[in-house]
Amino acid sequence: MTDNYNKSAVVSHWVHGFMILLVLTTGTVVLSNMPNNIAKLDSLKIHMILGAVILALTIYRIINNMLSDKVSPLKVGEAREKLIRYNHIAIYVVVILVALSGILLAKGSGVGEIVFWGANTELYKDFHDFGMGIAHSILTKILIFLIVMHIAGVVSYGIKTKENLLRRMWINRNKKDKK
Ligand code: HEM
Ligand code: HEM
Repeated sequence: MTDNYNKSAVVSHWVHGFMILLVLTTGTVVLSNMPNNIAKLDSLKIHMILGAVILALTIYRIINNMLSDKVSPLKVGEAREKLIRYNHIAIYVVVILVALSGILLAKGSGVGEIVFWGANTELYKDFHDFGMGIAHSILTKILIFLIVMHIAGVVSYGIKTKENLLRRMWINRNKKDKK
């Protein structure tokens, strides 16, 4: 047991978290409101590349988590402790599902081949006409909900216990972290 997340968990949490917030907001606000034409291809390319990097980082975080010392449980009741754990697990699972549905959407609709290999096929009129497009969209809404719960949980824990939880998710300079 340790009191803090290790250095790689901390760095990857913030890089991963920032990238997810970026891709979620640009996907929801920009991409889904753009008409499907040639001008959209560059934005789609960036979205798909970032999405794939997010998937790789998610797998890295899960492996790093499994190989590292467990972080001591928070001083909350058993029910709340479970809720926090399930929230974290759900975030990992849903991020993976979002990325996989995105990859299947890109493959099924042909947009992946158009963007990366210059295939000369017609772009789908609206990705929401496509089953996997709807799945990708719904999963991103579930992810937004889980992240809102996550951030609200961190803030409410701070208000209730007057303890700054962010210290556990920050690089601890007093201890020699091996990772
Ligand atoms: C910007 C707002 C965010 C804040 C303030 C924040 C804060 C934290 C804190 C303090 C912890 C450690 C909890 C503990 O001590 O047990 C944590 C863990 C975690 N956060 Fe965040 N976070 C944020 C954004 C995100 C985002 C966008 C994601 C989505 C990927 C995320 C996913 C996670 C996960 C999965 C864990 C569990 C780590 C593990 O045990 O593997 N966080 N977060
Ligand atoms: C895990 C990271 C990802 C996140 C957070 C994410 C998020 C989003 C969001 C929020 C939208 C808009 C959904 C809507 O209209 O309601 C979207 C659309 C889309 N995403 Fe992703 N995505 C991710 C990964 C991927 C990947 C890996 C690919 C493909 C390789 C991909 C391909 C697409 C496509 C083709 C669209 C349709 C764009 C449109 O509606 O015009 N996504 N994504």
